[in-house]
Amino acid sequence: MKEWHHNSLLGLEYLSAEDINQILDLAKDFKERVDDLSPADNLLRGKRVINLFMEPSTRTRIAFEIATKSLGADVISIMGEASSLTKGETLHDTAMNVQALGAHAIILRHSSPGSPLLLSQMVQVPIINAGDGSHEHPSQALLDIFTLREKLGSIEGKRITILGDILFSRVARSNFWGLTKLGANVTLAGPSTLLPSEVASLGIKVSHNLQDAIESADAIMLLRIQHERQQASHFPSLTEYSKMFGLSKSLNKFLQKEAIILHPGPINRGVEIDSELADSSKSVILQQVANGIFVRMAILYLLIGRIS
Ligand code: CP
Repeated sequence: MKEWHHNSLLGLEYLSAEDINQILDLAKDFKERVDDLSPADNLLRGKRVINLFMEPSTRTRIAFEIATKSLGADVISIMGEASSLTKGETLHDTAMNVQALGAHAIILRHSSPGSPLLLSQMVQVPIINAGDGSHEHPSQALLDIFTLREKLGSIEGKRITILGDILFSRVARSNFWGLTKLGANVTLAGPSTLLPSEVASLGIKVSHNLQDAIESADAIMLLRIQHERQQASHFPSLTEYSKMFGLSKSLNKFLQKEAIILHPGPINRGVEIDSELADSSKSVILQQVANGIFVRMAILYLLIGRIS
């Protein structure tokens, strides 16, 4: 197996195309072997992984837990509200204590962009970013790209539209880094108030017209409106957002026959996507969730599988 040169997984901005493909190839291997993995394959036996989640999560936390257990390691999950952070302890002190308790890796979800980077400079154990504010969500983008590769055959030259609340989306940022490094043609689409103003000046393809954005796409990646990060209203109402930028079933006729629809979840039915499309054969939303286990197995194995 090729060498892995990163101590932590902080974002796709910091990985090369080769690194990304190495994770995806290993995830594919785990997926193909899932039914054959025996106790002898307890690749992370004796390792202890701590999930430190300071924001709510269903998919990411559970997938990391299943991935850890599938590789024979122990996993302990701590939610923010149940930790001593609520008693005034700093994140640094929490992490130092988790390290003292024998953690081999810390998986961190936090509302502050850059907090995983900061922790990685303070503790010795690998840090896995499970979403830091509106900055990055690398394991989500890796499972999205894994699913795209599985469905489209390759990423190079594929037209991918990321639609919705780009401004506050860590999923959009990580996917943008990952997809462009692998040679995709990415279009960012949504209302101008939810697209960072510098994007167009960087030469990134931007669209504020829904039909234009979706009609030639091989894949459309929808994003939830991140109400929890917005300080002000960025559009008049959810009804109007949905009318202008929601993927309604009436737009199905503009989609390519083979186009697929992705969403990192949680989905808001009737806002960014109609139920009928979310549950249609074009949707790969639940396949993304399932693939999240194999991608996270690969991440954990590369980071802690070969350290004692
Ligand atoms: N996609 C995602 O991060 O979902 P959770 O918030 O449920 O982990």
